[in-house]
Amino acid sequence: MPSADPESYFIDECRESIAKAVSTCLHIDFEAAYGGVDLGKKGVDFTVAIPRFRLKEKPQELAERVQKYISEHPDPLIDHSNTDGGFIHFMIRDRALMRSVLDQVFRMSKPSKSAPHGLYGTNKSGKGKKVVIEYSSPNIAKPFHAGHLRSTIIGTFISNLYAANGWDVVRLNYLGDWGVQFGLLAVGFRKYGSETALSANAIMHLYEVYVKVNVDKDLETASGASPTMDEARGIFKAMEDGDPEALSLWRRFRDLSVEAYKNVYARLNIEFDEYVGESLVTNDNIENTMRELRNKGLLSEKHKWESQPGRNYKLPPPTDDAGNPLRDENPAWAVDLHRFKLDKPVVQKPDGTTIYMVRDIAGAIQRYDKYKFDKMIYVVGDEQDLHCAQFFKILELMDAPFVNRLQHINFGKVKGMRTREGNVKFLEEIIDIAKESMLTQMQTNAEKISNVAHPHATSDQIGMTCVKIQDMQAKRINAYAFDISRMTSFEGDTGAYLQYAHSRLCSVERKVAAEISLCEDPAEVNTDLLVEPKAREIAYVLACYPEVVRMAFKVSEPSTIVSYCFKLSHVISSAWETLIVKGQYKHLAEARLLVFVCARMVLASGMRLLSLTPLDRM
Ligand code: ARG
Repeated sequence: MPSADPESYFIDECRESIAKAVSTCLHIDFEAAYGGVDLGKKGVDFTVAIPRFRLKEKPQELAERVQKYISEHPDPLIDHSNTDGGFIHFMIRDRALMRSVLDQVFRMSKPSKSAPHGLYGTNKSGKGKKVVIEYSSPNIAKPFHAGHLRSTIIGTFISNLYAANGWDVVRLNYLGDWGVQFGLLAVGFRKYGSETALSANAIMHLYEVYVKVNVDKDLETASGASPTMDEARGIFKAMEDGDPEALSLWRRFRDLSVEAYKNVYARLNIEFDEYVGESLVTNDNIENTMRELRNKGLLSEKHKWESQPGRNYKLPPPTDDAGNPLRDENPAWAVDLHRFKLDKPVVQKPDGTTIYMVRDIAGAIQRYDKYKFDKMIYVVGDEQDLHCAQFFKILELMDAPFVNRLQHINFGKVKGMRTREGNVKFLEEIIDIAKESMLTQMQTNAEKISNVAHPHATSDQIGMTCVKIQDMQAKRINAYAFDISRMTSFEGDTGAYLQYAHSRLCSVERKVAAEISLCEDPAEVNTDLLVEPKAREIAYVLACYPEVVRMAFKVSEPSTIVSYCFKLSHVISSAWETLIVKGQYKHLAEARLLVFVCARMVLASGMRLLSLTPLDRM
C-alpha cells in the first residue's frame, strides 16, 4: 500500500494484518481490503464495513465468515473480532499495542537536525512534490480584517500539514500593494503624513492617512469631480509606467509595512518564504496575458450598464431615444463567463490600468514559471469564491497547463471582531486583546500567577493559542462569532485548556524527576506492567495520530487536528487518578511515566502542527 508505513507505524501494521485476513477470506483485492479498514469508534480499535466491497453475498454472512476465519487463524496482532450486522470490529492485542506504540512515539519524537521536533505522525506521501501556498495577504494601508486573520491562521496550518505529509512547501504572502489606492495614499501622505509617525508605526500611520484622504475624496466626489482622485490616478499611472519618483515613495511604504508585519507574524509563530504582492506581477506577464486573451477570442467589451445591480445579462442593451443601442465610449474589457454561471469579470479598466483580476491570472502564470509547482493553494475567504472560480476558469480557457493544480481553500466569516472603540483594524490589536484578557484571568488566581515565571509572555502565548483554537475548532467553512471571554475560558475545549493539558504533563515529569528519569532506550521500560484500561486507551489514541494527520490532509481541515488534541487531552485528564507515577515502585513508575511522556510528545506535535507553542508551565 503506497500510503502505508507499517515499519514506522503500528496502526498501519495492524491494518495490514486485518486487510490480509479479510482479503484472503473473502477473495478480494488486498488494496481494496486495506482501504476498507477504518479506525474504530467507541472503544473498538478497527472496523470493516463489508457492504462497501459490494459483494454478491449477504454482508452479515460475510462478516461472520471473517470472524470465524480470524478465530481459526490466530494473528500476532489481532486479539479478536466480533460482528454487528455487516460490520466487523477488531481488537488489537494489548501488549503488542503498548510495546510498539510507546516505542515508536518515543523514538520518533526525538529531535534531529532536519526535524527539530521529531518525526512521529509525519509521512512521506508528498515526497518530491512542491506546493506553493498563499495566505494572509493583507492590503497595505487598509485594515487587517477577520478574513486576513483566518487566512493567516489556516494558511499556516495548511503549510505545516503539507510539510508533515512530506511536501516541499513554498509559503507566500501576496500583499495588496498595488492599485490606484497607492496613488491616493501618496496624495494623502503629502497632506497628512509624518515621517516620525511613519517610522514609529507604519501600518497604523498609513492607515490613518488613507482614511483622511478618502474623506477628502468622498467630499469632493459628492459635489462633482474629485481633483484628489484625478491626481491619485495620475500618480498610479506614473507608477505603472515605472516613474522612479512615484515608485520610491511607494517602495518606502511597502518596505516599512512588511518590516512591521514581520514582527507581528513572528509573535504569532507565522512565517513566509517570500513576500510577494500584486506589485510584483510583471507588466510583461500582464501584457502577454491580455494578448493571449485577445488572440483566443476571449475578450469582450463590457459597458457600464451591464454592471447595473439586478440587471439580467440576457436583456438586450438599453437604447437611446432613436432606438439605437447605447454604447460606452470607453468600455472595459471583460471575459464573458455567463455560460459557466460565473458572470462577466472585468480584466482591464477603460483607462488601461491593470486590476486585481488580471494580476491574479498573470500572477499564477508567473508563479508556475518560477516554481513549477505540483500544486498551488490560495487560502482566501469565501467572499472571494466567485473571484477565484473566475480566474481559475479564465486560466482554463487560456489552456494554462497547470490549471488542475490550483486549489482555493476557503473559509467562513467571523462576526463581531470589535473593541469598545469599534471594529478591529490591526493584527496586533487582536492578539493584544486576547493577551490582556488572559492576563486578567490569571491575575484573579493569586496562587496560579505566583507560579508563573513570566506572566506577560505566558498570557501572550495562551492568548494567541485561544485565538487560533477558536478559529480552527470547527469546519473551516463555518462562520463563527468572535467571543473573547468564551475563547479564553479554562472551561470547555479552549486554547487555554489545551495549554493547561500540556503543561500539566510537563509538570508530572518535573515532579518525579528526582526519583525517575527515562533512559534513552524505551525498550528497557517494561510496558507489560501497563495493565490499566486507561493506559491502553491513551496508547490507542497515540497510535492513531499518524492516521489523523493523513485524514486532516485529505480534507484540508484544521478541525481534524484540533479535535484530536482535545480527545487526547481528555483521555489524559481522565487517567490521572489511575495512572499514578509518584510513589510507585521504580519499574511501574517508569512505565507509567513513559505513557505520559509519549502523550506529551504527541500533544506537543499536534499543537505545533496548529502553529501553537506548547507551554511547559502556566
Ligand atoms: N489582498 C486580498 C484581499 O485582502 C487577498 C488576496 C487573496 N489572494 C489572491 N491571490 N487574490 O482581499
